[in-house]
Amino acid sequence: MNEKILNPYYGELPESYLFSTIAKKIAAYKERNPGTEVISLGIGDVTSPLIPAVIEAMHKATDEMAQKATFRGYGPEQGYGFLREAVVRGEYAPRKVDISPDEIFISDGSKCDVANFQELFSADCRIAIPDPVYPVYLDSNIMAGRKKNIIFLPATAENDFQPELPEGGVDVIYLCSPNNPTGTVLSKETLTRFVEYALKNGALILFDAAYSAYIRDAALVHSIYEIPGAKECAVEFRSFSKTAGFTGVRCAVTAVPKELGKLRTMWLRRQTTKFNGVNYIVQRGAEAVYSESGIVQTKQVIDTYMANAARIRTALAECGFTVCGGQHAPYIWWKIEGWNNSFEFFDRLLETCAVAGTPGSGFGRCGEGFFRLTAFGDPERTKTALERIRNNLKSLRC
Ligand code: MLT
Repeated sequence: MNEKILNPYYGELPESYLFSTIAKKIAAYKERNPGTEVISLGIGDVTSPLIPAVIEAMHKATDEMAQKATFRGYGPEQGYGFLREAVVRGEYAPRKVDISPDEIFISDGSKCDVANFQELFSADCRIAIPDPVYPVYLDSNIMAGRKKNIIFLPATAENDFQPELPEGGVDVIYLCSPNNPTGTVLSKETLTRFVEYALKNGALILFDAAYSAYIRDAALVHSIYEIPGAKECAVEFRSFSKTAGFTGVRCAVTAVPKELGKLRTMWLRRQTTKFNGVNYIVQRGAEAVYSESGIVQTKQVIDTYMANAARIRTALAECGFTVCGGQHAPYIWWKIEGWNNSFEFFDRLLETCAVAGTPGSGFGRCGEGFFRLTAFGDPERTKTALERIRNNLKSLRC
């Protein structure tokens, strides 16, 4: 094959995706240490089973698929009306946000949507990305040849992890709140500044709210559309993965308000061409997340994860470390004092404690000197991981 046909921009990416690199390192460690049980607090993958309300709905939908009269083939392209309506009722109406079902698009994951959305933009548009943040925003724009058009918005301890407005003009701004990896919820003031900037400069905000179910304070902003004017300048991504344990099931929501005009019809055109929808059984399961019992059971699972988060925060603080996050998000952002290379710290933690996390620099340059632990682990295994850290403190100091 002639390599000239290959997309040259892939050469500008790190060799492998952050979580693939981590998985490879863990696999290599396990091969070297076959008897040792590794506890992974790395990738943010859920460990609690699906809630009974979801399982019941999926069983019922499976039975429907077994009968000629109720069998379904291709579904509606934007997702079934029952789910889009449930999303509006469950996510937006309680916060007095006026989003209608035809502004909702159901997909098989926020990762795909957030990575695919940039296809709608011109090759030379200017992009602003917080640093540190979920690496998909950056990698997908590099793949599209925009590396030179990207500016970073540092979110550090100095600015309370609230990114500053971009200097100069940008066309697209990614925001993630609660932030992956820092766990910070963007304040109303910060979001208002970004919305005002976007409206003034004709920019678009891509708002990733995948972790909003973890916000414990009702007064904090859960949806960008709570900010006046946001419907004219923002797309929002929400996910069932972390909210309802759908990481392996796959279902998500993207809201593209009518006020965004052509962008909404372009996204519809893109999805109808390249995507054939989420299966009926999964959409019925997702709908059940918003049922009376679904809401109660979902909250119980989230409470379990947040108890883990509190446990991690307390244990690390008792060991003398500075920690952020973990209060409105399932991620703990651990300051690894003295370490200039968070990948080296990853190796040390794995070698000495058989515990895996995620190196901060994998989320951007400003993540260097930090390390992310997830609260999605099983509670007992999380306690064991913390015990191992406590017992190996000396070797974890640089
Ligand atoms: C993470 O660990 O950051 C997430 O699990 C990644 C994802 O949701 O794709």
